[in-house]
Amino acid sequence: MSAITELDVSKLTVGDAYKLLIGAIVPRPIAWVSTISLEGRLNLAPFSFFNGVCSNPPSLLFCPVNHADGREKDTLRNIREVKQFAVNIVSEELATQMNQTSADYPPEVNEFNVVGLNPARCVKLDVPRVQEAPVTFECELLEIVKVGPGGAGSGHVVIGKIVYAHFAPGVYESGRVQLDKVNPIARLAGMSYCPVREVFELPRPKLPPPSANN
Ligand SMILES: Cc1cc2nc3c(=O)[nH]c(=O)nc-3n(C[C@H](O)[C@H](O)[C@H](O)COP(=O)(O)O)c2cc1C
Repeated sequence: MSAITELDVSKLTVGDAYKLLIGAIVPRPIAWVSTISLEGRLNLAPFSFFNGVCSNPPSLLFCPVNHADGREKDTLRNIREVKQFAVNIVSEELATQMNQTSADYPPEVNEFNVVGLNPARCVKLDVPRVQEAPVTFECELLEIVKVGPGGAGSGHVVIGKIVYAHFAPGVYESGRVQLDKVNPIARLAGMSYCPVREVFELPRPKLPPPSANN
């Protein structure tokens, strides 16, 4: 078999494009998103198409992608209705419960109960947060951007403004988040995850000052 060195990605099936994304964009942090429906049903699910956006305003994004049968995720529906959500960070100790909450439960199932987690009150939102999480960001919806034609594999970018944060004891010290206290996991391809143990530092490059002639 010849070695593949390039791909016309537009010709891939939705499934193979997904495998390419989750194989090459690694490691991905995990947003464990808690929401509530208008009727008051609690929901909790993980999303690894997730990152920060900017610090003015402090903001983040994550991407609920439609199910293979084209259905939208319960998380997205709840955020459309309530305009709020909480992003809980997943520590290694919470990995099994996080994974369990990714099952395709019907909207009426409360994943907090299924996995035995405590829904704690948020301060500025009506949605629940995961009491056991090392970090939680309370978010108000800024924008939902639709990506793709809809149906299977298409998705949305959900952008939220972070309005409040919660930390487990010792996690936020001297204005810094203590990585060893968060002990986060990240998602790789397939069923694989990694902890963050090996860390190295690179000082940012310093450019020489502009010369007097400039
Ligand atoms: C670690 C992990 C990361 C995931 N990342 C995403 C993601 O970025 N986008 C997505 O749509 N689904 C993702 N999923 C799948 C959802 O968690 C799953 O579809 C879940 O049932 C959605 O729940 P909901 O319908 O209650 O919102 C991920 C699952 C796991 C285990």
